[in-house]
Amino acid sequence: MNIERLLTERTRKIEFSGIRKFFEMAAGMENPCDLSIGQPDYDAPEPVRAAAIKAIDDGNNRYTPSAGVPVLREKLAATVERDHGVRTDILVTCGVSGGLTLAMMALVEPGDEVVFLDPHFVSYGHLVNMAGGRPVLVNSYPDFRFDKDQVAKVITDKTKAILINSPSNPTGRMMTAPEVKAAAELAVENDIVLISDEIYDRLCYDGDNPCPLADAPENTLLLRGFGKTYGMTGWRMGFAAGPTKLIGEMTKMQQYTFVCAPSMAQFATLTALETDVSSYRDTYREKRNLICDLLAPHFEFERPTGGFYVFPKAPASFPNGTTFCERVAQDGVLVIPGGIFSSVDTHFRISYATTEAKIRRGCETLIRIAKEGHKG
Ligand SMILES: Cc1ncc(COP(=O)(O)O)c(C=O)c1O
Repeated sequence: MNIERLLTERTRKIEFSGIRKFFEMAAGMENPCDLSIGQPDYDAPEPVRAAAIKAIDDGNNRYTPSAGVPVLREKLAATVERDHGVRTDILVTCGVSGGLTLAMMALVEPGDEVVFLDPHFVSYGHLVNMAGGRPVLVNSYPDFRFDKDQVAKVITDKTKAILINSPSNPTGRMMTAPEVKAAAELAVENDIVLISDEIYDRLCYDGDNPCPLADAPENTLLLRGFGKTYGMTGWRMGFAAGPTKLIGEMTKMQQYTFVCAPSMAQFATLTALETDVSSYRDTYREKRNLICDLLAPHFEFERPTGGFYVFPKAPASFPNGTTFCERVAQDGVLVIPGGIFSSVDTHFRISYATTEAKIRRGCETLIRIAKEGHKG
């Protein structure tokens, strides 16, 4: 059979994640210094793991309601209301990816536009394309700020949503309160949705992550996750909080696609919500400080304030981020070219979700190769 002729434009447009190439490269290396990983280096806390096992043993192994188990939805709604003063509807999703996918399915028709900053999380453009929409990127180099005027310029009558991500993957930058307010104002002024991907919201090192919900309660769709904060990325847990109508439409889509988020993980999330993560945050803050101290004399970068990424400029002697990353990979260090997250390939992403020893070893190599320069 000639499957080629049957495939959709949707799938042809998408290439395997560029990050995969680096994972494959790592697989062939002995003891690589892997600074490419986008997930915590700690395991889920013991009480959370125990709660998942108990949920299984208690027989919570069947489908849950599509929107999630009521006790968890209620707890999430109460938490959002306590923190932001707005009562939202809740849909428990299969990770933040599940929430993003359902949001696109509910909001984007062929030809519609979704606006977000460049650089951005890898999935955004693909998800908009999969829905038949058009990703519209707003250049945010060199400081990665949300500039209201620049974003306003690209909004058209086809724009359905602005998508923000604070703290950001790949830059590690937390938006300031005025930036988030500006994004909320733009959504209200243009009567469009503001999707706020806050997957790293509990991993902020210099203050709390500002949230747009109170400024635009009718326009904001919050997407939050548990994988990064609690070291349970494989459990696929997240939630969407927002206006009743939009959450309802996304729930309908979930019914016929994901069906529900994993049952035992939903029960374990109840325990996760009671678990103090400040020690994880404090440890990552120290690692953030360490990596910034090591790199600052040698690389140009915005000091990250959340998540576990730094996004420096590739050394000027290298033609682009990819050639620099390929060169450091030869010496056993894995970092990701900025072009994976952007329409330009001028930077590279380092993840500091690893041991202090690997951060030191990796930085030594990055600095040495930057000093050596590009050898053609
Ligand atoms: C900004 C951002 N959004 C969403 C996701 C996807 O998260 P999840 O694993 O919860 O689907 C990631 C994962 O790396 C991310 O960095």
